[in-house]
Amino acid sequence: MSKILVVDDEQSMRDFLAIMLKKEGHDVVTAENGSDALKAVQAEIFDLVISDVKMSGLDGIDVLKATKEISPETVVIMVTAFATAETAVEAMKHGAYDYIIKPFKIDEIKFIINNSLEKRHLRKENILLKREIESRAGFENFIGKSGPMQKVFALIRQVAETNSIVLISGESGTGKELVARAIHINSARKNGPFVTVNCGALPETLLESELFGYMKGAFTGATSNKQGLFEAANGGAIFLDEISATTPALQVKLLRVLQEREFMRVGGTTGIKVDVHIIAASNKDLFAEVSKGLFREDLFYRLNVIPIHLPPLRERKEDIPALIDFFLRKFAKKEGTSLLLKKIDAEALEVLMQHPWPGNVRELENMIERLVIITPGDTIRLEHVPDAVKNTRPCSELVSLDIPEEGLNLEALLEDAEKAFLRKALEKTGGVKTEAAKLLGLTFRSFRHRLQKYDAS
Ligand SMILES: Nc1ncnc2c1ncn2[C@@H]1O[C@H](COP(=O)(O)OP(=O)(O)OP(=O)(O)O)[C@@H](O)[C@H]1O
Ligand SMILES: [Mg+2]
Repeated sequence: MSKILVVDDEQSMRDFLAIMLKKEGHDVVTAENGSDALKAVQAEIFDLVISDVKMSGLDGIDVLKATKEISPETVVIMVTAFATAETAVEAMKHGAYDYIIKPFKIDEIKFIINNSLEKRHLRKENILLKREIESRAGFENFIGKSGPMQKVFALIRQVAETNSIVLISGESGTGKELVARAIHINSARKNGPFVTVNCGALPETLLESELFGYMKGAFTGATSNKQGLFEAANGGAIFLDEISATTPALQVKLLRVLQEREFMRVGGTTGIKVDVHIIAASNKDLFAEVSKGLFREDLFYRLNVIPIHLPPLRERKEDIPALIDFFLRKFAKKEGTSLLLKKIDAEALEVLMQHPWPGNVRELENMIERLVIITPGDTIRLEHVPDAVKNTRPCSELVSLDIPEEGLNLEALLEDAEKAFLRKALEKTGGVKTEAAKLLGLTFRSFRHRLQKYDAS
């Protein structure tokens, strides 16, 4: 059922069309002149307007123009007894869908009306489709079917609707920046700026003037007033990456911004207010940093309003095949118009799934890029996978238990293995020794003792 407005100054014509359309199941409103028609168009949204051209006062072309302006999606059909090429052209130019000449046959007008309504229906579907695509925005390049990632996605959608501070944690390469961008893209501020600051990349004073801006003469080299990134992000979001790398002095200043949503430029005397969504990230366990006295506790609690944790890839191995598929497409070479998409065979996939990926998704992505380049044929097989990846098999397969003819030096071999495990554990935990010890089933004391033994040698 569609909503239709019939405009004609001739009553018999209005009644005829209204009865016919109601019989077809539509909801029909009639107007006997142009100005009544405009009132109706302003009051409700019609799927279709059928209007006579020649009317005293506002004519059909006026109704057409106004309708298109007020409700561009509404389809308009013109009806006239005085068909001339000019009015037809003018009606089409102003967006009329079709043109009917009186007298007409019932079948003819039914046909045109049905066609126009179908078009309107398709347009509606298109709009819905577009909305759906928009609502997926930020997720189409974000792979994660696993339970933990689905939870992360749900959380992203929720926080995107708020202005609460978000703290994203997770090992390096787990997708923290992707999360931050997805939050922004799905928020009402999506058309505002998204500003990224890598807090680990700049020395303290430089970071401070980058973030807050400065006034002319604040320090040597400050030759003019400069806006900081917080101001640049106004109306959008600021992504404070590697927040754990900030110094205590800067942490105090950040705390003030978070509390008061106000800051001063370096060398400035007046507070500047901004409206920004603050999203922070750390690949170190911030809470552990707090207990070690390296990160301010009050700032941590200010930041940790909505924590989003990204689990390491080794804890969501079921995502690996889809990620590989995604990266194979990403790195597929364009050959003319078609893509040279490489495949991966089951054996190679199995090995990639077993690997613990200490560098997480980034490491996997780099590996796939490399495999796409070095694999000569169209299928990536076990032989193409580097040894370093192949060798991280389950424990029993890890060490070859074969003793060569000439025998071996067990002491040295075990020592080497131990060193390698210590190194790997530290790598995986981002250097956090208590975590590394846990990973190896050792007490912290024992772990430290072994570490010192090898450090000394
Ligand atoms: N779930 C995912 N789907 C698709 N690509 C991903 C996913 N997670 C991460 N990536 C890709 O892996 C790379 C690393 O992601 P990102 O930069 O977001 O990680 P990060 O957690 O910020 O790492 P770091 O702590 O080292 O800065 C990027 O190229 C990103 O596009
Ligand atoms: Mg990052």
